[in-house]
Amino acid sequence: MTPIKPIQIGLINITRKRVATWQTHNVQLASFNVASLRVTWFRSATLLGCLLTAASHLEKAFVGCEGRIVTMNGAVYGRTFSSSPKRRRRRSVMSFEMVRLDRGSSEPLYQQLYRQIREELESGSFDSSASRVPSSRVLATTLGISRPTVNQAYSKLLVEGYFQTRKRSGIFVTDHLPATFLKAARPAMTARTEHFPRVARRVTRMTDFRSGRQLDVGIGGPPSVTLVAGLPAVDEFPIAVWERLRAQVLAKKGAHLLRYASSRGEIELRKAIAAYLCDFRGANCHPDQVVVVGGMQQAMLACALALINEGDVAWIEDPVFHQARNVLAFVGAKTSPRPIDREGLVIGKCSRRNSPKLILVTPSHQFPLGVTMSLKRRKSLIEFAESGDGYILEDDYDSEFRFDGPPLPCLQGLDNAGRVIYCGTMSKILYPSLRLGFLVAPPQLVDTLVKVRAVMDQHSPAIDQATLARFITEGFFLSHVKRIRELYAQRRVFFIEQFQKWLGDYFDLEVTPAGLHFVAWLRRGEDLPLFMRAREQTGVWSRPLSFFCIKALLDPAFVFGFAAWPQAQIEQGLAKLASAVKQLKQRGAGNGSSSRIHAFSPATSPYWPPTAVPIN
Ligand SMILES: Cc1ncc(COP(=O)(O)O)c(C=O)c1O
Repeated sequence: MTPIKPIQIGLINITRKRVATWQTHNVQLASFNVASLRVTWFRSATLLGCLLTAASHLEKAFVGCEGRIVTMNGAVYGRTFSSSPKRRRRRSVMSFEMVRLDRGSSEPLYQQLYRQIREELESGSFDSSASRVPSSRVLATTLGISRPTVNQAYSKLLVEGYFQTRKRSGIFVTDHLPATFLKAARPAMTARTEHFPRVARRVTRMTDFRSGRQLDVGIGGPPSVTLVAGLPAVDEFPIAVWERLRAQVLAKKGAHLLRYASSRGEIELRKAIAAYLCDFRGANCHPDQVVVVGGMQQAMLACALALINEGDVAWIEDPVFHQARNVLAFVGAKTSPRPIDREGLVIGKCSRRNSPKLILVTPSHQFPLGVTMSLKRRKSLIEFAESGDGYILEDDYDSEFRFDGPPLPCLQGLDNAGRVIYCGTMSKILYPSLRLGFLVAPPQLVDTLVKVRAVMDQHSPAIDQATLARFITEGFFLSHVKRIRELYAQRRVFFIEQFQKWLGDYFDLEVTPAGLHFVAWLRRGEDLPLFMRAREQTGVWSRPLSFFCIKALLDPAFVFGFAAWPQAQIEQGLAKLASAVKQLKQRGAGNGSSSRIHAFSPATSPYWPPTAVPIN
């Protein structure tokens, strides 16, 4: 123990270099050993406050350092890695006991395995002292599945930064887990309730592997430059106009707007929507065919519930908007992912028994690849649906935003067979939390869809519907669309320039004539883990294309949104991402898992350029 020396106490200023300065009262009070960061004092009731302040100064001084401050037996101890014995993290092998694979599920086995491991990691319930992952051979034997299945799940976890490889040691849970990993202390739960609450099959067969913050997009925190696709410029929405119109409709209609409303939607709104679609989207419809819904998500769910029995075949594009996929799983459809070529969804031959009851497509601007469906393919698709007594759900989510060439009429306008259900949303044009959208059904389906809609939530908020009707009929809607289209056109050009500047060495940006996002193809597959890491570090969350893929094996790429941020922020986001990648590259991070990428996303994909996949 260091002998007690007269020292000054009062203000302690300890820098990260462990320098201590004590000032004011000259009192022989305490000893301070800078080397061991150990402070000892004489107990004295009168000086206790002073000493506690000293302790708190020490604690503050060490925030962010590897060291740790403890107060014990009247002394403050500062511990650093050098002053305390190194504690090695035990690397026992994780057991993954929680994995339950369902061979009867439409979700592929590798995906089930990937999802369950990821959920386990995100739940924070695994034993953090066990970070080594069992070898694929061991896990395959334990679970009674093939090694390639395990390898495929592991590849995905490696690429997404949940696992990392160590030379000659194996695969480990990464030290820097993705930000979604929840470190918060969890309430104690019994082993029985922790993992497997009993839920309906329709939930477990959903392939949505996100959880926590990722799943609940509404708790994303303060606005930041995420460059995520699908977000509009909400700060450009004319709130004052909307508020004025809202006040006017309330003043005019009063309590009428507070009663239960029609499950079809307010008649003024249905008229306004039908007129807009006929004039500007080339649709062919009457207001009686319009049903107002709570956004595209609800339109898809209502159609799927109305038209699909458990086990019926449904087609979706692959890659696809992930919520469309969830909807089909939710209703028990046998989902058949269809490839995309330069003309849109590839139609294959299929037996009558396997003909799809519902086909979900984004013909104006395929999400996420951006392809516009050709006229020839549109006609073939309608004929195909008619021949199999199926229906097409046309998701026209962002068709207002076409920057080159004339606007394309919708698929519904070509349909003389009553096979297309046109669906639109206000999420991109106005703002997503409005939760208003609409569908235009063939006359024979309207009552069925209204019935289903009524059972879901009766109707959308009447005040918002009435306000929107006014917003459209008084011309604000069209002028807003025109104004933000111009704004997005500028942001789009700026994004392309800046992307070339900051990330042009890594990516080929695919510039399509429409929409609010781009697909950027990585030039070198081995850069994928670097970008996955950089996403976590920077919060620039542009999603990997593989997130939207079901069976499609596409070259590695990311989907970048550009619409929601002013130019300065776009530049800031891209620069941040580029600088994080540069630093990671210098540190040699992320190279360990490059060999795995090819198994998951081969450079010579048979899929793009396209080939039709035969259907059984
Ligand atoms: C393809 C596609 N459809 C629809 C939507 C919007 O859905 P909603 O109206 O439920 O907000 C999105 C959102 O990003 C989308 O990407």
